[in-house]
Amino acid sequence: MKLEIKYASKEEPKQEKIDILNQKALLSFDLLTQKTGLGNDFLGWIDLPNEITDIELEDIITVANKIRKNSKILVVAGIGGSYLGARAVIEALKNNFDYLLNTSNSPIVLYAGNTLSEDYLSDLINILDKKDYSLCVISKSGTTTETAVTFRILRDHLEKKYGHNEAVNRTIAITDKERGVLKQISDKEGYKTFVIPDDVGGRYSVLTPVGLLPIAVAGFDIKQLVNGAKQMRKELISNKDTNTNIALQYAICRNYLYSVGKSIELMVDYQPNMIYFSEWWKQLYGESEGKDGKGLFPASVSNTTDLHSMGQYIQQGKRLMFETVIHIENAGRKIQIPQLKEDDDHLDYLLKYSLMDINHKAEEGTRMAHLEGGVSQIKLSIDKLDANNLGQMIYFFEFACGISGYMLGVNPFNQPGVENYKSKMFTLLGRK
Ligand code: PA5
Repeated sequence: MKLEIKYASKEEPKQEKIDILNQKALLSFDLLTQKTGLGNDFLGWIDLPNEITDIELEDIITVANKIRKNSKILVVAGIGGSYLGARAVIEALKNNFDYLLNTSNSPIVLYAGNTLSEDYLSDLINILDKKDYSLCVISKSGTTTETAVTFRILRDHLEKKYGHNEAVNRTIAITDKERGVLKQISDKEGYKTFVIPDDVGGRYSVLTPVGLLPIAVAGFDIKQLVNGAKQMRKELISNKDTNTNIALQYAICRNYLYSVGKSIELMVDYQPNMIYFSEWWKQLYGESEGKDGKGLFPASVSNTTDLHSMGQYIQQGKRLMFETVIHIENAGRKIQIPQLKEDDDHLDYLLKYSLMDINHKAEEGTRMAHLEGGVSQIKLSIDKLDANNLGQMIYFFEFACGISGYMLGVNPFNQPGVENYKSKMFTLLGRK
């Protein structure tokens, strides 16, 4: 993985400013790695890739294989950190049209409990009436309304469809080791359960069973995912050199741009199957940094699609943002531009390119244009989209987020603001 930074000319930082930020980043690095900063009871994720054992991974794979045998669909019921990590990896690796492929050996993973939309759940139930499915309910607190209500509805559906014993056999709960209603129900019913460790918050939990079980059910290599994270951990955790540690560089750059008035960081992909990776990243940075009246607003675009909508604003609108672009060097499949009998569409000049080459030229051209338009660019490159690289990127963004949040002076591991809407909603619903 490689990180390159190009500042728009007006935003080139002065060396003194960078020196100060470097110092701040190194102090934040110490707070994180020595576990002495705010929220240090939620730093279990730092060592997760090294601590997860082969036995734990095999247990997850065994349960996943059972679901792969008896189900056409796995419903993951969870919200926020309890589904976005799994979805980010699955969407990135899956065939874009797998739901139309009758040949696929893997169950399709569908998501619920992340919305209160009645139409969405009705449509889902309609499908679940016709297909064999299993249900994986994920909630650390065990009390999140969206997930809990959905679980009640789907539990009822499973019981009616399969009868009690088989419904239990098809339900997996991932929750706290002892607290919460979901844990109590699981113990009472005898569901297979996995634990979300106490010291790992939802948005940092993708490398626990929260992410790993659905990813394994979808047929992807969770050992490679964990290996990638392990590799990245090794690269970052003992390197206090701001010239070579890419997490320090990323945290310094985004805090610098924030300090000169930027308020939005745009995550940019050039592949639609990366959209949910951006969603995961948005939650990670939004919930970790957006507090105490501070923080960059994390947003995302998917190009080249969005160059024909948001591209206008990014090029010429209010100068609010900088971009973090995910560059993928090689495509998984290749389409060469074909030669036709005639050049009636005037595209023969593209004959020497594959579609990915053209996508790369669009990316490069956009970078040049946006730099000219005053939008600084961070580019994160990987050679290909696979489980190992996704593991690396996940750990990279988590680690950088911890440093960046500490540089900003916030606790990157709590989310007190998430409670506000809940208390208003509970009052309106008449909850005692
Ligand atoms: O990152 C977080 O902590 C949150 O997004 C939670 O994951 C989300 O609110 C769901 O919480 P729970 O897993 O307790 O249902």
